[in-house]
Amino acid sequence: MEALDFVLLTGQRKALSVSFELVKRLIEMDKWGQTINKAYSSAADLYNQLYLDCPDWQLVERQHFAELVKETGLSMLDVGCGPGRDLAIFSGLGLHPVGTDFSKDMLELAKESSCPLVEADVRKPLPFVDSRFSGVWACSVIPNIPYNEFDGWLVEAYRVLMPGGILFISARNGREGKVVIPYLNDMVTFRACYSLQDIVGGVSCLLDILEADIIKEYPTVIARKRLK
Ligand SMILES: C[S@@+](CC[C@H](N)C(=O)[O-])C[C@H]1O[C@@H](n2cnc3c(N)ncnc32)[C@H](O)[C@@H]1O
Repeated sequence: MEALDFVLLTGQRKALSVSFELVKRLIEMDKWGQTINKAYSSAADLYNQLYLDCPDWQLVERQHFAELVKETGLSMLDVGCGPGRDLAIFSGLGLHPVGTDFSKDMLELAKESSCPLVEADVRKPLPFVDSRFSGVWACSVIPNIPYNEFDGWLVEAYRVLMPGGILFISARNGREGKVVIPYLNDMVTFRACYSLQDIVGGVSCLLDILEADIIKEYPTVIARKRLK
């Protein structure tokens, strides 16, 4: 075999193994997404009943976010909006929320909020133009984003946020992996866990951190997109 043939063959093998790894990763991503989608869809009604009420501390959190968002505008995106409780709350606070979720059953319930809804997998490019929103609200959805996909998700949230806009993230501490949730009919799902430092570390590369705290066991970060 000529030396050049050998180099080409090695290169092709390398390319093949890279694309094999990529396909494997895409299949894993898809499996993770499908399991979570199926889990939330099957538990949508129960989830709605359990979380319909908004405790005072959560209402204060939402009022605070709405005030910050209003400094640049009224449009906001609720990423992983679930059955739409927060859409209704933000609407009532004078914002113009758009909800997005990949569970059709969750979106069906969210119609009650009368807000625009978009079916989308938030781990993929978001179907919105750059700088579309003054606020991006991601409450309890990050635990459904695998740790190694967080940066990609964050870049998309950043892209759709206008300069000066506000990002809210609440997550979970603990151990990443498969979990069974007894209060949701033993729903089987995957959970990714983030410490406050994980989120602050990622977010602070792109946005200014306004607040970072563990609120009722949930690592929570509020940040503002820089004006440039
Ligand atoms: C724990 S619930 C939170 C719902 C709502 N944000 C709340 O705080 O009540 C997580 C929601 O995120 C949605 N979700 C999870 N992964 C998603 C993904 N990759 N793309 C879109 N929605 C997703 C689920 O379908 C579910 O409705």
